[in-house]
Amino acid sequence: MTSLPGSPWLQRQGAQLVLDGCSLDELATRFGTPLFVYSQRAMEDAAQRYLGALKGHPHLLCYAMKANSTLAVLQTFARLGLGFDIVSGGELLRALAAGASPDQIVFSGVGKTAPEISLALEHGVRCFNVESTPELERLAALARAAGRTARISLRVNPDVDAGTHPYISTGLKNNKFGIAHREAVAAYRRAAELEGLQVDGIDCHIGSQITQIEPYLDALDRLLDLVESVERAGITLHHVDIGGGLGITYDDETPPDASELIGRVLDRLRARGHGHRTLLMEPGRSLVGNAGVLLTEVQYLKHGEAKNFCIVDAAMNDLLRPAMYQAWMRVEACTESPGAEALTWDVVGPVCESGDWLARDRQLALQPGARLAILSAGAYGMSMASNYNSRGRAAEVMVRDGHSWLVRERENPAHLFAGERLLDTATLADSRGPAGY
Ligand code: LLP
Repeated sequence: MTSLPGSPWLQRQGAQLVLDGCSLDELATRFGTPLFVYSQRAMEDAAQRYLGALKGHPHLLCYAMKANSTLAVLQTFARLGLGFDIVSGGELLRALAAGASPDQIVFSGVGKTAPEISLALEHGVRCFNVESTPELERLAALARAAGRTARISLRVNPDVDAGTHPYISTGLKNNKFGIAHREAVAAYRRAAELEGLQVDGIDCHIGSQITQIEPYLDALDRLLDLVESVERAGITLHHVDIGGGLGITYDDETPPDASELIGRVLDRLRARGHGHRTLLMEPGRSLVGNAGVLLTEVQYLKHGEAKNFCIVDAAMNDLLRPAMYQAWMRVEACTESPGAEALTWDVVGPVCESGDWLARDRQLALQPGARLAILSAGAYGMSMASNYNSRGRAAEVMVRDGHSWLVRERENPAHLFAGERLLDTATLADSRGPAGY
């Protein structure tokens, strides 16, 4: 019995790949493919690493639900007392449907619309992480109109290089996110004078899949410099939110454990005389990434002129990360066939794009009908899935200690066009109601 990198819950038992007591090949037979499978205990373990290290210090751990917003996943974290980091009205409604309490929700995002802000005000979210001065003005006006006070934090861009992929690095000057460091004090002054707002904290998020602690400490230092300037201007800040971003093991990365990161962050807070402040964090990937796999079935083996293609039934619409970031995701056979000859394959999907690949140049012993598991697919897998090529989204299963639950049905073609109208029954554009979320 051997554990695979990243998750002690995923093991090779004889020829079988097993996730917390469930054979993945059996799950594929029972529920069909493509299929996402998540270990609930792996998620709980990951959360406990954060919670354990934060214990004794005032904190709020907000799961960044964009990583995986499936209700059963949210419910798992809500039951552990986690809060949520949301970025849309849709995420707010999902979090509430899963049992989240609004006073543990922070609302991030660079483009919050007026209906989304009003919805969040109505539910009384804990804090708006504001990303620009126009957003401050809009939020204040909407709060006054609703007779509410919005608690705010300003997302500051610390201009720190998190050393990660350019598409998922967010704390640099040329990113669209946050308020420039040198403009932050003026923005806080404006926030403090606007009726309808109550200044509560400061936040940043420097990127994703970060495998080192130093960028966090650099960003924290930049944030604390600002906290000191803002408080000198007579504005009190209660919390510091250092965002998410902690990386996971896809291949041979060795990111620090959450407890190590938190230990260093708390040490730095205390060393600089900020030990009394509430610490907020917004991890996404590190809570769910290694808890999930995507199962897919080999359809055809094709020997091209320059490459061997293994055509599977999962595609870029199920798992976009390889196509979008050239991300490397580990591929394992659900059932190993010892002695079978391994060849070098590109694992590709059926979608009509050359970018539709899941893995390249992998040594695998394959035959049609075999099932493959794409590992570390719990984060930014299903939540980024689309219906491109009119493909229904995959089903999802949660496993725990040998038991399995279908937590999302496979989308069927009727689901896909349920909201559409042929022209003869469509509503005229000029009689349309207000836009929804
Ligand atoms: N907070 C904010 C404001 C964020 O923008 C994000 C992620 C997080 C927290 C959570 O970051 P995490 O702990 O998951 O790294 N689709 C990409 C990742 C995009 C991350 C976007 N922001 C991927 O598949 O690698």
